[in-house]
Amino acid sequence: MVNINKPMRYFKLPVLFSLQLVLLQCQSQKKEQYELPEAMLPHVKVFYAEQCDKGQILYDLNCAKCHTSKVRGKKIIPDFTPQQLTGYTLRVANAQHEKNMPDSLVTEEELGIIMTFLSYKKKNTIAKK
Ligand code: HEC
Repeated sequence: MVNINKPMRYFKLPVLFSLQLVLLQCQSQKKEQYELPEAMLPHVKVFYAEQCDKGQILYDLNCAKCHTSKVRGKKIIPDFTPQQLTGYTLRVANAQHEKNMPDSLVTEEELGIIMTFLSYKKKNTIAKK
């Protein structure tokens, strides 16, 4: 019997190959948005980049109105130090701090994701003031 699918097989391969290239490119672009440690394994980097994307959205919803400033039309998200981030997480987890801090607005999980984003986002190139 004649296999009518045979020519298709040769046609599919390059299509699949170029699709994979496009996917790979998307992934590496994503990684470069954040400063992830060199030693992090590629699939872990992809996971962290996704967490950072989510964290950025949560940050924009819950934190940006007080913390994001504008310098020459460019949005500046502060470069908090690791100590500040840990300190803030502790403060939120322990509920008793200034009323204007949004401890009731974000869940512990959401806060963790925001912290991932703030830890790995690219540092600002222009000074805040
Ligand atoms: C209503 C305004 C407001 C919102 C909303 C807000 N913050 Fe703040 N944040 C402040 C103020 C005011 C400070 C105080 C200055 C300080 O204590 O250092 C601060 C301080 C901080 C600090 C530094 C703490 C330190 O120890 O130096 C971090 C980190 C921080 N905020 C993270 C966040 C995150 C993450 C969110 C969103 C979940 C958020 N903030 C939402 C007003 C706000």
